[in-house]
Amino acid sequence: MTVKTLDDLGVDGRRVFLRLDLNVPLDSDGEITDDTRIQAALPTIQELISRESRLVIASHLGRPDGSRDQAYSMEPVAARLAHLLDGEIILSEDSIGDGPRKMAFALREGQIMVLENLRFYPGETGNDDSFAKQLASLADIYLNDAFGTMHREHASIVGVPKYLKEKGIGRLAEKEVSCLTGLARKPERPFVAIIGGAKVKDKVGLLLSLVEHVDVLCLGGAMALTFLTASGCDLGNSRVEKESFALAEKVRRKAKKHDVKLVLPVDHAAVEELAEGAPFETVGNDRFPENLVAVDVGPATVEAVQGELESARTVFWNGPFGVFEVPPFNRGTEAIGKAVARSNAFSVVGGGDSVAAIRKGGLAPFIRHISTGGGASLKFLEGRPLPGLAILDEE
Ligand code: 3PG
Repeated sequence: MTVKTLDDLGVDGRRVFLRLDLNVPLDSDGEITDDTRIQAALPTIQELISRESRLVIASHLGRPDGSRDQAYSMEPVAARLAHLLDGEIILSEDSIGDGPRKMAFALREGQIMVLENLRFYPGETGNDDSFAKQLASLADIYLNDAFGTMHREHASIVGVPKYLKEKGIGRLAEKEVSCLTGLARKPERPFVAIIGGAKVKDKVGLLLSLVEHVDVLCLGGAMALTFLTASGCDLGNSRVEKESFALAEKVRRKAKKHDVKLVLPVDHAAVEELAEGAPFETVGNDRFPENLVAVDVGPATVEAVQGELESARTVFWNGPFGVFEVPPFNRGTEAIGKAVARSNAFSVVGGGDSVAAIRKGGLAPFIRHISTGGGASLKFLEGRPLPGLAILDEE
């Protein structure tokens, strides 16, 4: 694969269409609750400013349904960006049409404009050709640094680059691709993957691919309960996906074939009914009370994962080990975060709750790479092509 980067593109003084993933979480007052993705975009923006490019920044925010919805305006994002850059940002009310075109052509060297939310237009998610063409008309060069959105076949991801000859990826996408490629191709061993989350069927592709690369696969979250139940454990009232038993067994067989050690929970925090602060019991897989539901992993499970991490040289973690949003059932996930941060391995963490646990614990400095792409990083590790990257391949 040959994809150009900022080292190959003559961006100096030129108008650059910079697709970023500035899809940050907002609270009910429209305040940004986590600006990780904005911070992660800064190196590319700063490099372009220093090279006096004229920047047209484009992103989506949330999932408005193709029409204008002020709750998803890029306003707070543009304001946060201006604050972090300590500079001025022009926010265009529209993404296409005469307004943004005039603004784009009036940009001075090093000046930045941000287009309004691309998903205010049905043409974005519909990958409409004429929408893509109009976006492309705003600039001379296409640069995609929106790693978290590269798995989407949307107009700004796969349409715009068809209309601009000079194209490539920014520094964030470069780092994401290089870290994740390293995991898939030449990980230092032992390589331990820690995968949590709700459903086997959402992650089965990833699991089947990971067992070809890792030495140890630790599973947690509701997904692991399905594995345990499929192999004969009775976990009382716990939520399991009966329809995924066969998939779980398929992963187990493949892990065995590739000599991968499968580490499943051995104990659980179990409740009668899930609620914040609900009283819980710590119970093992044997004699699990029939009226209880497993909602988090217990200390012996955390210890088992920690044990695997002691000798690990590479670690990938994605997905919560319990019901992270309902305390105290966030404890297992937070303990896994601490164990990953303490390990001396090359560590990569991706996915909303896992990244939130790392940030909450102030552990980010101890993680080698925090991926900004949940869905995109999983698809990449599954070995499936990312449309946003494939379109930029000049091989
Ligand atoms: C994400 O948050 O994973 C990306 O920004 C993509 O957003 P989407 O899932 O709404 O396409």
